[in-house]
Amino acid sequence: MKTSKYLTSISLAFCGIVFANMSASAQTAWVAPASANNLKNPGTCDAATVKDAKAIYTSTCAPCHGAKGRGDGPAAAALNPKPADHSSKAIQQESDGSLFWKLSEGRGAMQAYKGQLTDKQRWGLICYIRTLKK
Ligand code: HEC
Repeated sequence: MKTSKYLTSISLAFCGIVFANMSASAQTAWVAPASANNLKNPGTCDAATVKDAKAIYTSTCAPCHGAKGRGDGPAAAALNPKPADHSSKAIQQESDGSLFWKLSEGRGAMQAYKGQLTDKQRWGLICYIRTLKK
C-alpha cells in the first residue's frame, strides 16, 4: 500500500535524525560526575611542580594540544572531536577535579592517563594547565 510505504520512509528518516543527534551530543558534551567535580588538588602548584608538569606536557600532550595548549598540535588536524584548547575560557572555568577526572579517564583519542602517570603527575598537569590561561 502506498500510504504505509510513505509512513515507513518518514519513520526511517526520523530515526536517522534521532541517531545523528545522539552521536553529535556524545561528541560534544563531556561532563565529569559530580563526585569528581569536587575533588581538590591534594598538592600545591609550586614552581617545581609546574616545571615538572611542563616537561610532561611538552613531550606527551603538546603533539595534540599544542605547545601552548591551544588545541593546535601537529596531530590535531586528523582528530574529531578536536583536542581541547586548554587556554580557553571554557576549560579554565572547569574545576580542577573535572579536568583531573577527564585526564585520568580519557575519551576517544584522549586516552586515559591514570595508568601511565601518577596521581601527583596528573595533579601537576592541572597546575600547569592553569598557567596556560589566555
Ligand atoms: C592523541 C591526542 C591527545 C593527546 C596526546 C592528549 N590529548 Fe587531551 N584531549 C584530546 C582530545 C581529542 C580531547 C577531546 C576529547 C573529547 O572531547 O571527547 C582531549 C581532551 C582533554 C581534556 C578535557 C578537556 C575538557 O574539559 O573537555 C583534558 C583535561 C586533556 N585533554 C588533557 C590532556 C593532557 C594533560 C595530556 C597529556 C598528558 C593530553 N590531554 C594528551 C587529545 C589528546
